[in-house]
Amino acid sequence: MPRKLAAGNWKMNGDGASLAEIDALLAAHPAPGVDILICPPATLIERMARRIAGGPVAVGGQTCHTAASGAHTGDISAAMLAEAGASHVILGHSERRADHGESNETIRAQAEAAMAAGLHVILCVGETEAERDADVTLEVVGGQLAGSIPDGVTGATLTVAYEPVWAIGTGRVPEIAQIAQVHDAIRAALVDRFGPEGGAMSILYGGSVKPGNAAEIFAIANVDGALVGGASLKAADFSGIIAALEAA
Ligand code: 13P
Repeated sequence: MPRKLAAGNWKMNGDGASLAEIDALLAAHPAPGVDILICPPATLIERMARRIAGGPVAVGGQTCHTAASGAHTGDISAAMLAEAGASHVILGHSERRADHGESNETIRAQAEAAMAAGLHVILCVGETEAERDADVTLEVVGGQLAGSIPDGVTGATLTVAYEPVWAIGTGRVPEIAQIAQVHDAIRAALVDRFGPEGGAMSILYGGSVKPGNAAEIFAIANVDGALVGGASLKAADFSGIIAALEAA
């Protein structure tokens, strides 16, 4: 069975004072029934990892370079994330694909670098609004999966996050049937390529997940959790999403 995961992507938000949110989250969920991951900005990874060491919440990065080290000003390697205390890394987020021109090939190489450093990869896919309107969502997502996931991944090394670009930060969420259709297609593609391991990989939904809509999203088949942006910044909001996942 895929593991249930509530993952928070803080994006370029948060400072030292934000670490108190993690204290509040741990107080609310001292023994959570699902996996919990927070991916803060790189500047906070080490402090967060120290603060919650030994507890039930994992810490992750938001991207990594394809190389282990070298002349890449401003970049961060997978080994650096791991040394700072990260166990996971988000790769292929639509904001990285759009803002930094990351291609499927680049993301695949990043994933290989991440796994070589022992990081669990959260691989993001999702269509733009224009692609949804053109009725090519499944083709787009299928192409991203095929192009950006390396060979040899397992349920222990890879999680997929379906994040429709038009649902991110907009308050708009696809209809239940639309989420179900894409998650079913992702599961089928993973099983087709990876066999039983494809059935063990978690598939997260992301895009305007809130405490108020989490329960109906988590009730959908092949939705094993969420990748949460805005609502992961405040412990009170993220806690409601975790509780909904525990109850699903
Ligand atoms: P929001 O939850 O703010 O819509 O962001 C989703 C996201 O991009 C998580 O990676």
